[in-house]
Amino acid sequence: MTRKNLIAGNWKMNATHLDAIQMVQKLSYRLDPDDYERVEVVVCPPFTALRSAQTVIETDHLRIRLGAQNVDWHESGAFTGEVSPVMLQKLSVSYVIVGHSERRQLFGETDEVVNKKLKAVIESGMTPILCVGETEEQRDAGDAESVVGAQVRASLAGVDPETIGRLVIAYEPIWAIGTGRTASADDAGDMCGHVRSTVGDIAGGAYESVRVLYGGSVNPGNIAGLMAKRDIDGGLVGGASLDPDTFASVIRYWV
Ligand code: PGA
Repeated sequence: MTRKNLIAGNWKMNATHLDAIQMVQKLSYRLDPDDYERVEVVVCPPFTALRSAQTVIETDHLRIRLGAQNVDWHESGAFTGEVSPVMLQKLSVSYVIVGHSERRQLFGETDEVVNKKLKAVIESGMTPILCVGETEEQRDAGDAESVVGAQVRASLAGVDPETIGRLVIAYEPIWAIGTGRTASADDAGDMCGHVRSTVGDIAGGAYESVRVLYGGSVNPGNIAGLMAKRDIDGGLVGGASLDPDTFASVIRYWV
């Protein structure tokens, strides 16, 4: 089973729609056809920049894929300030990040909410990038595996095994996000392996095809060591995705 590598840039609350046009164009200038063969390249701008990014990608026939950072699970209705799955799908969004630790910690998203969002994304024909990860206290207490395993199980509850095999799960230890502290490649590889075996427990053969990413202070200096791990299929990249040169270096990690 060969899994295509995937490297996604999570821009978080950065970049106006004008910035986004430049960032996508600059990134495309730095990538070769070969890069897209090796790695599926995804950018996740804020909602307000999706339309502009989509226009550049379609006009210039770029092979960069579009992702969103969040979504509501309702189809439509009286939910002031929210964005529905179909609104994203109509903007040619392929991926939607669900359950990012910043959403869980700052906006109170529970596993139950994450599960609803994940199902809504799947029903609209897009692919969720499900984020899971432990806090520093949980790691120090020796609970990293149980916490992450429980998040995976709860977030995927009620999803059929075949569908689970097509999803993307990002293991992002919370203590490594935006801190400059990366998990060692060995630890990251082990935890991504744990995510994969948890998928095996709940969805059998899906463990072979589900793609597992590592996220948390990924940069051009540490990506190659992470990608060398059998159970790591790519990265979810925050800070290092904002500069197109740096992000291109992450994507071209083998060069
Ligand atoms: P970081 O963010 O690369 O800036 O640590 C990763 C993420 O939050 O997805």
